[in-house]
Parts: sequence; C-alpha cells; structure tokens
Amino acid sequence: MDVNKFRRKIIAGNWKMNKTVSEAVDLANTIKRELPDGCDMDVVLCPPYTALKAVGDVILNTRIKLGAQNMHWENYGAFTGEICATMLRDLYCHYVILGHSERRIYFGETDRTVNQKVKTAINSHLTPIVCVGETLDQRESGSAKDIVSTQVRESLDGLNVDLGKIVIAYEPVWAIGTGRTATPQQAQEMHAFIREVLSSMVGEEIAQTIRIQYGGSMKPANAAELMSQPDIDGGLIGGAALEALSFVELIKSLK
Ligand code: 13P
Repeated sequence: MDVNKFRRKIIAGNWKMNKTVSEAVDLANTIKRELPDGCDMDVVLCPPYTALKAVGDVILNTRIKLGAQNMHWENYGAFTGEICATMLRDLYCHYVILGHSERRIYFGETDRTVNQKVKTAINSHLTPIVCVGETLDQRESGSAKDIVSTQVRESLDGLNVDLGKIVIAYEPVWAIGTGRTATPQQAQEMHAFIREVLSSMVGEEIAQTIRIQYGGSMKPANAAELMSQPDIDGGLIGGAALEALSFVELIKSLK
C-alpha cells in the first residue's frame, strides 16, 4: 500500500491560551503570507475559541485549515462555559484537538470523556486530533506503553467509523513545553507501537492509513529528523507555533 497517499503530512499549531484576536489575526496573516507555495502537507491553525472566527476569515480560501482546542460531547444544552461541535462547524473548523494532556491534567479529562467527544466530532464531520502520551514518572517506571495503549484503546473505543478519519497525536508529557524533545528513536518506537495497537483494533490495512503526529518541543531544528521516521506523519506544535517565522521555518524544513 502507498501509505503516502493516505498519510499526508500534517503540521498543526496549537496556540493554547495565547493571543488576543488582533494578535491572532497578525499571526495568521504572517503565516499565510510566508507559507511556501506548493508544500505538500496539511497545515492547521488552532487558536483559542475567541479568535476562531477572525483567524478563519484570514485563512478563508487558502489551504490552511482551522482547528479548535477542545469541545463538549453534547450538541447543545445547559453546559455553562462549553462549546459544541455544531458551533465549531459553524465557524468552518475542520479539526478539533481532543484529550490534550493539559486538559487531562488540569481539567480532569478522561479517556471516557475523550471517547464521547471523538464520537461526537466524527458525527459532526470534524476530524479529531486525539492526544495521548505518558508522564515522566510513567516513562521512568517502564509503564509508558501500557499507558499509551490504554489511552488509544479507550479513547477510540466503540467507534464504528473509518478510523482513517482520525489523527492521533503522541505527546509525551515530559516533552511538552520543556525543550526536552523525545529523540527520533524514542518517538518512532512509540509511534510504531501506537500503530500496532491500532492494527489490533481495526486491522493492519486501516492502521496503515492513520496519521500519527508527534508533539513536544518540536521546532525548526528538530522537526525534519523527527518527521523522517517512518511512523511519524506530522507535528502538533505549541511554543514554536506562536511565532510566524518559526512555524513557517519548521514547515519549510520539511519540504
Ligand atoms: P510545545 O511544542 O510547546 O512543547 O507544546 C506541544 C503541545 O502541547 C502541542 O499540543
């Protein structure tokens, strides 16, 4: 199978809780202007909710796609402070990040809630970017693969859809915002393992079509080597996505 046909590279910027609307518009405009022509990959911007509309307007009719950082699993109702899939579709979001470790750690997100959200996202024609990854303690105690395997299985449990529509992001918690990137070998080993887990769930053929991004201190200096690994299909970028030039430089380094 020609996996490149299915596993188009995907680079997404997760802006987290950063950027006012005007700062977000500036950043999106500069990225749009500086993005090289003909780079053969999906580029996604995930601003905070408050800037989704404005960034969506900037990237309208370009090949840059819009993503959100979270959503509720219900489609409407009395959930003060929450945002639903219909609202994200209304703003032309294509992607939604689900189960980011910061949501798991600070906001009590569990594999069960991630699973509910993944189902709703797919039913609403949003592509979920499902985040998994172990903490430093878990890695050092030798349980990283067990943790990641459970996260993948439970987050994707009971999905009777084409799992090829889902993106997985492997983000080791110890590498997020720390400047301590997983080595290409460490990342590849876990990505290959995640693909094995997926394969046991949906079969080898579909598992080969699922894109798995790496996230955790990815930057222009290390992106190309990480992305040269056979099971690393993209990057979910935090800090280096907050500056247009480093985000664009990272993308250019992959051409
Ligand atoms: P950093 O790139 O800042 O380490 O963040 C990664 C991340 O959490 C992306 O979702």
